[in-house]
Amino acid sequence: MTNFGKSGIIYVTTERTLLVIKPDGVKRNLIGEIIKRVENDNFKIVDLNFIHLSRKQAAEFYKIHKGKDFFLPLVNFIIEGPVLALLLQRKNGQNRLRKLIGATDPKKAETGTIRADFGTSIRRNVVHAANPKENPPREINFFFPKKKRRSE
Ligand code: CMP
Repeated sequence: MTNFGKSGIIYVTTERTLLVIKPDGVKRNLIGEIIKRVENDNFKIVDLNFIHLSRKQAAEFYKIHKGKDFFLPLVNFIIEGPVLALLLQRKNGQNRLRKLIGATDPKKAETGTIRADFGTSIRRNVVHAANPKENPPREINFFFPKKKRRSE
């Protein structure tokens, strides 16, 4: 988030955000490459969760898309295998991570982004990042419940 002080100085806040490496990224051995890109962009890894979601958990995580035509295929895909969730921190982290991963559809993603380089379709797009316009704290808390967090 960017705050404008009375003096007109822009204050950029350190933010936490969520990245999920989806089952296609895990299966294709892309974890190391994706983490390298995230660390090279000065994100700090606060915590990690390697987890195979149940159907119920997947539907809960993606509940914002319930009722859309791609909801069922999306849930089926995300439970194909384990995902790696990363709790990340960086100045302006939420917007910065969205830039690093690129547009949802890999065909439309900017050159050099994770989805442009590794995504194979709009569904099999390798990664998910919390959307600042939706509810990043809810998504973070889903994979990293406050009471179980390693560090604060
Ligand atoms: P993600 O960032 O994980 O958020 C929701 C996911 O739904 C999105 O990435 C895509 O993988 C998927 N998605 C969004 N729109 C479509 C669509 N039109 N068709 C298929 N899948 C979609």
